[in-house]
Amino acid sequence: MRNKIIIAIDGHSSCGKSTFAKAIAARLGYIFIDTGAMYRAVTLYALENGAITSGMVDEQRVCDMLDDIDIDFRFNPQRGASDIYVNGDLVEGKIRTIEVSNCVSAVSSFGAVRQKLVAMQQQMGHKGGVVMDGRDIGTVVFPDAELKIYMTADAMVRAERRFKELTQKGDNVTLEEVYENVVSRDKADMSRAISPLRKADDAIVLDNSHMSVEEQMAWFDAEFQRVTSK
Ligand code: DC
Repeated sequence: MRNKIIIAIDGHSSCGKSTFAKAIAARLGYIFIDTGAMYRAVTLYALENGAITSGMVDEQRVCDMLDDIDIDFRFNPQRGASDIYVNGDLVEGKIRTIEVSNCVSAVSSFGAVRQKLVAMQQQMGHKGGVVMDGRDIGTVVFPDAELKIYMTADAMVRAERRFKELTQKGDNVTLEEVYENVVSRDKADMSRAISPLRKADDAIVLDNSHMSVEEQMAWFDAEFQRVTSK
C-alpha cells in the first residue's frame, strides 16, 4: 500500500459527498477535488455563452466551446478547500444555482465533456493523497483507487438539506422544485449512456440519511484503518 492513497467518493446528488470528502481530506492532509464543480463550471460557461437557451442544451455548441474553457482550482484557506476558476475568473459562488443544477446533467452526459474532465481529474490525482468526489471516480476515473465509498441518502432528506442551503444563500426556490431536481438528476446520472452513476463492485456503501457528521467520520476512520492496515 502506498503512503498516500486515492479515496474515491461517488453517489447521489446532494447527499453531502463534498462536505464528507472535504472533512476527510482535512483530517488526512489530502487534496480534495470536487469533480461535480468541474461539470458545473462547464455548464455555467455554456449558459453564459449562448449554448443553452430556455433550458435547451445545444450539444454541438457546448463541445465546440470546450477548448475555450480553462478550469483550475486554487486553495482558499478561509474555506479550507479549493475554489474553482474558469479562464481566471472565480466562479465558485455561481455554479450552485438551480439554473446550473437543471442543466448540468445534460452537459455531463456529453462524451467530449467527460473526456476532457476525466483526463484533468486523472492528472490531478494520479500521485495519490487525494479525496475525489463525483459519480464515476471509482468506476472510470480511478478504477484502482484503494478506498471507494458509495454515498447515498433518502431523496427527501437530500432535498431538504439542499433547500436549506439554497434558501440560506437567498435563492428563491421551493422544496418541491429542489426535490424534483434531486430525483431527476439521480435518474439522469444513473441512466446516461456514458459513465453512468453506479456503485463500483468493490465500493463500500455509506447511507447517511440518519447520521451526523461525527458519526460519518467515525465510520470513515474505521474503514480507512481497515484498508491501510492491510
Ligand atoms: O456533485 P454535483 O451535484 O455538484 O454534480 C453536478 C452534476 O455533475 C451531477 O448532476 C452529475 C455530474 N457529475 C458527473 O457526471 N460526474 C462526476 N464525476 C461529477 C459530477
